[in-house]
Amino acid sequence: MRGFDDGSYLCFLSVEKDGHSGNDLLGLMLQSNRASDSGQRMSTQDVIEELKLFYFAGMETTAALLTWTLVVLGMHPEWQDRAREEVLGVFGTDDTPSFDGLSRLKKVTMVLNEVLRLYPPAVTMNRKTSKETQIGGITYPADIVLEMPIILLHHSPDLWGDDVLEFKPERFAEGISKATKDGQPGFFPFGWGPRICIGQNFTLLEAKMALSMILQRFEWRLSPSYAHAPCTVLTLQPQHGAQIILKSL
Ligand code: HEM
Repeated sequence: MRGFDDGSYLCFLSVEKDGHSGNDLLGLMLQSNRASDSGQRMSTQDVIEELKLFYFAGMETTAALLTWTLVVLGMHPEWQDRAREEVLGVFGTDDTPSFDGLSRLKKVTMVLNEVLRLYPPAVTMNRKTSKETQIGGITYPADIVLEMPIILLHHSPDLWGDDVLEFKPERFAEGISKATKDGQPGFFPFGWGPRICIGQNFTLLEAKMALSMILQRFEWRLSPSYAHAPCTVLTLQPQHGAQIILKSL
């Protein structure tokens, strides 16, 4: 998987040349693994664990987001058409999507946000108390795990309104902060705080690029064999698969 050369996105494909590691995430980890200062050194096991984390956190989640996006746009052809119109307006039918063009895709971004709201690939996030902690007037002891159910917040009528279960990308027309009722914080697909997902910009770029390339080439609808059954298998997935019928444009 490759990032962009300006270094603002993650990239973890390292090529060893003349004994030197590449200048990417894996390369940096390999350099650290060889550091002479033991305080700075990542053990080989640490490197393996980090790579497993990046593989799982990066691949499964993005695949789930794209899968749900295809399902939902198969259910809502009017939004599929709107997203395609925007993509064709920016890139035409042949051009490979450019970084600049991708950042101009407003409707596609609204669609992805609404998919992340309804079908967040990570359904909960956890925090462990390191010491006795007060939250909302309740005192929690040290060393307990608190679970925040992202998916329940994303489906709360108090935060999103009575149409909370409907697919309405227009909620995000004026950005995330104006999408909820009274601007209350209620959208956490990438978690929150200091441990917020490190790959969120990268994944949205990847998803916009993949979706743009699909929209440029295909139109699709859900297959009659599709059965809607979201279920959590580490990430939120369609239990019986995502059967769609593609038509080449
Ligand atoms: C749709 C795609 C993705 C979703 C929904 C997602 C969601 C999340 C969530 C909910 C967390 C926990 C944040 C918290 O506890 O506050 C997280 C952490 C993390 N994510 Fe993502 N993620 C996605 C894509 C990616 C990608 C593409 C990468 C890497 C290239 C990545 C790497 C990570 C890492 C390394 C962490 C741990 C960060 C830490 O503990 O400091 N994620 N992600």
